[in-house]
Amino acid sequence: MSVSADISLHHRSVLASTMAYRETGRDDAPTVLFLHGNPTSSYIWRNIMPLVAPVGHCIAPDLIGYGQSGKPDIAYRFFDHAAYLDALIDELGIRSAYLVAQDWGTALAFHLAARRPGLVRGLAFMEFIRPMPEWSDFHQHDAARDTFRKFRTLGEGEAMILDNNAFVERVLPSSILRKLSGEEMAAYRAPFATRESRKPTLMLPRELPIAGEPADVYHALETAHAALAASTYPKLLFAGTPGALVSPAFAAEFAARLTHCAVIELGAGAHYLQEDHPEAIGRSVAGWIAGIEAADARRLVA
Ligand code: BEZ
Repeated sequence: MSVSADISLHHRSVLASTMAYRETGRDDAPTVLFLHGNPTSSYIWRNIMPLVAPVGHCIAPDLIGYGQSGKPDIAYRFFDHAAYLDALIDELGIRSAYLVAQDWGTALAFHLAARRPGLVRGLAFMEFIRPMPEWSDFHQHDAARDTFRKFRTLGEGEAMILDNNAFVERVLPSSILRKLSGEEMAAYRAPFATRESRKPTLMLPRELPIAGEPADVYHALETAHAALAASTYPKLLFAGTPGALVSPAFAAEFAARLTHCAVIELGAGAHYLQEDHPEAIGRSVAGWIAGIEAADARRLVA
């Protein structure tokens, strides 16, 4: 089924369910794997993938329970997402890729890179997830911190997210500077029409590694961030002003502690930077990949 003139939508059987992914670009180019977060889907990359297509074979999965992927009866913990993503990567035969990630997509990318460093050609990331020792490390705004504490409170989170679809109706539009069109909001709402279908969007705020909880996710992301800090593959970090999880000042400090990490300031932006800055992100990722590939080609002939 065609999504636009350039992007096609596919499905694969994965772990007794199905996963959907958008695809565009050149088959003979390096794979570029786009990883979304909560409560979005591969749809969030729709205006970015065509700009990267000239230099990459672009693949954007819908995480399990999101977009047009299946909705099996599972817990939708972080480790479930990692298992389904691993299975899709194997199913598609991806052995080497640039990763482009935002929000929970970054946690999946860091976790994947830590376990399979040979797979990663480079990592472009934004509004990323890290172990946050204190609640004050989470988010730029007190009001958002209060909201996420409620999401993590039994009963309150269910009422807000399962009954009232708060992640799609409130968090998403309030973390994008421009107003999404009716068509865009409809695309984001479509996967979450029922109370049951919203379970993944409730689980992920409860998985955020804050103040040591949940302990297994916190530990896995400490390990993944240690691997990121030790890694030498090229990195590109985007930051918006003020951002939500990552301010420009924090991005600069964080990148300075990594090897080969450039920072691009996008200007005004909150959490879903892909909706406010698709052109800048797409063109920067394309130029970054072209530069790395050209340098690798020069090294090979030298
Ligand atoms: C999150 O899912 O981590 C998130 C979503 C919106 C704003 C900040 C964080």
